[in-house]
Amino acid sequence: MTQRLFTPFALGQTPLKNRIVMAPLTRSRAIGNQPNDLMREYYTQRAGAGLVITEGTATAADGLGYARIPGLFTDEQARGWGDVARSVQAQGSHLFIQLMHTGRIGHPANLPQGGELIAPSAIAAAGEIWTDTAGMQPHAVPKAATADDLVRLRNDHVRAAGLAVANGVDGVELHAANGYLLGQFLNPRSNQRTDGYGGSAANRLRFVLEVVDATIAAIGKARVGIRLSPFNPFNDLESGFEGEREQFLALVGELAKRDIGYIHLAGGSVAGELLGQTRAIFPGTIIINGGYDAARAEADLAAGLVDLVSFGRPFISNPDLPERLRTGAPIADLDPATLYTPGAAGYTDYPRLDEAEALLAD
Ligand SMILES: Cc1cc2nc3c(=O)[nH]c(=O)nc-3n(C[C@H](O)[C@H](O)[C@H](O)COP(=O)(O)O)c2cc1C
Repeated sequence: MTQRLFTPFALGQTPLKNRIVMAPLTRSRAIGNQPNDLMREYYTQRAGAGLVITEGTATAADGLGYARIPGLFTDEQARGWGDVARSVQAQGSHLFIQLMHTGRIGHPANLPQGGELIAPSAIAAAGEIWTDTAGMQPHAVPKAATADDLVRLRNDHVRAAGLAVANGVDGVELHAANGYLLGQFLNPRSNQRTDGYGGSAANRLRFVLEVVDATIAAIGKARVGIRLSPFNPFNDLESGFEGEREQFLALVGELAKRDIGYIHLAGGSVAGELLGQTRAIFPGTIIINGGYDAARAEADLAAGLVDLVSFGRPFISNPDLPERLRTGAPIADLDPATLYTPGAAGYTDYPRLDEAEALLAD
C-alpha cells in the first residue's frame, strides 16, 4: 500500500519531509513562561514529524491563563523559541508556534502580578482552572475588551508573529479553536458584544479576520495558519448555535480568499459531509486532527480531503511516532498524571521503540 503519510509536501515555502504533523499540546513545562532547554529537547525528540506545531503560546501577559505556559512577547522568550526552532530544523523538520491568548479561560493567580483576564464580554466561563498558588479556582470574570484593547490584542499577535519569524521560526498558527480568545469571539455564549464585533455571524468573524489580516501583512500569508473547531463545547461554548455551520463555512470562505497558509481542523470537529464542503471551499492546505491512526490518515489523504494529518496524544508518549506509524509498531499509552506537571517525568522520558526494546532486553 502506498503510504501517502510519508510523501513530502510543500507548505508554502516550507518543504515538509512527510505529512505527519505534531499537534499543539500544552504541557506546562515553561517555568516563568520562558521556553527552556527541556522543551527544546522534547520538541527535538519529536522532529520525525514533517511539521511540529508548538503548544499554545501567549501573545501577551494577560493571555497566560494557565500555569507555566510559554509566552512570545519578550525578546528572551523569542530567543528561547529560536533555539527550539533551530534544533527541530536541524532534524529536518519545521516549527510553527501556536499563538494562543487564553481570554476568559484563566485566573489572575496564573497571570503576572496585578494581571486581569480580558475577553469579548464580561462573562466568566463555567468551571474551574488550576493555579499553582491556590489549587483549583473558578474562572474569574474577565474584563470586556474596549475598542482600544482590541487594537492592542491584535497588535500583540502581530508582534509575536514578527518575533517568531525574526528568530528563525517557520510560521505561526492562530489559535481560534477550543474556546480561547479568538474562539470566544466566534461563539455567542462568550461574545455578547453590541458593537461591530458581536451580534451577527459577520460581526463575530470580524476580530478573527482582523488578526488574520494583520498577521498576514506582517509575515506573509504562507507563514500563517489557523486552528478551528466548530461545534466544540469545550471551555463553556455553545455547540450548534443557530447558524454555526453557515458561520463556519463563511469563515472558511474568507480564509480561502486570503489564501492563508493552512487551516487546521481540530479534534474531529469537522468530518464527513462538512469536511467535504470545507475542502470544496478551501483549495489550500488542510490539516485534519482528532483521533487519527495510520489507516484513517491514509484514507483521508487518498480521498483528497486533507493534505496533512496531525496527531496529538500519540505524540506525547511516542517520540518516534512517525517511525511507529510507518512500521505498524505498537503505540504506547500516555500517563495522564504527568500531562501538565513540571519536569522531565512523563515529558522527555518516554522511550523510542528501540530504547524500549533495549530496556526489555536488559
Ligand atoms: C495534554 C493536551 C494538551 C493540549 N493542548 C492544546 C493546545 O495547546 N492547543 C490546541 O490547539 N490544542 C491542544 N490540545 C488538543 C490537541 O491538539 C488535539 O486536538 C487533541 O488531542 C485531539 O487529537 P488526538 O486525538 O490526535 O490526540 C491538547 C490536547 C491534550 C491531550
